[in-house]
Amino acid sequence: SMKSQFTRTILQWNRTQNNREMPWKGEKNPYHIWLSEIILQQTRVEQGRAYYNRFIKKYPTVFKLAAAPEQEVFKLWEGLGYYNRCRNLLYTAREIVQRYNGIFPDQYEEIIQLKGVGPYTAAAIASFAYNLPYAVVDGNVFRVLSRFHGVDTAIDSTAGKQLFTALAAKMLDKKFPGEYNQAIMDFGATVCKPMVPSCSHCPLQNNCAAYQTGMVNRLPVKEKI
Ligand code: ADE
Repeated sequence: SMKSQFTRTILQWNRTQNNREMPWKGEKNPYHIWLSEIILQQTRVEQGRAYYNRFIKKYPTVFKLAAAPEQEVFKLWEGLGYYNRCRNLLYTAREIVQRYNGIFPDQYEEIIQLKGVGPYTAAAIASFAYNLPYAVVDGNVFRVLSRFHGVDTAIDSTAGKQLFTALAAKMLDKKFPGEYNQAIMDFGATVCKPMVPSCSHCPLQNNCAAYQTGMVNRLPVKEKI
């Protein structure tokens, strides 16, 4: 089927051609994963790297972060902006220590209730740390799915968000959700890129609706700018 061909190709590409390296890749510690995903929420991977490494070094456990003075954490966050993220980071670290005895929750419904954690971040933590079958839907996923399936529904419309959320869940590899989620994001970042996608080397070329119809640089569609 179309689904297993897409999913198997993404996993195969990941295992044979993906050479993207990031410090949080393959990480299983939910606290480390959560930290990386909060940093990456409004920050580019290249900028996020150094901050992630500094945070992990200074606060290797959620107990260390929870015990840190607010001004110290804000100092380490300096330059990343969106300071509410930093406020929520510290709030949630303390919540995990106080309410969960420092043990990160392992159910999606609990994870998504943490302050600063939305559907994307909850799916990332649930799949990377616990291999739970939740699909991440970020900019990379919107782009890859809209192109492969030739969907021109605006990604920032209500209908688009619903459609792509359902499509992402359908395409998710239920055996390897964590690996698949990281793979589709890496694929979007390195092959199915926004401006100059590498279609000539793309393993999905033959089944890509956008490639086959010359629509690659018109997808994904955005309503607002
Ligand atoms: N952006 C946010 N989380 C990411 C991840 N785990 N890998 C790549 N890009 C990301």
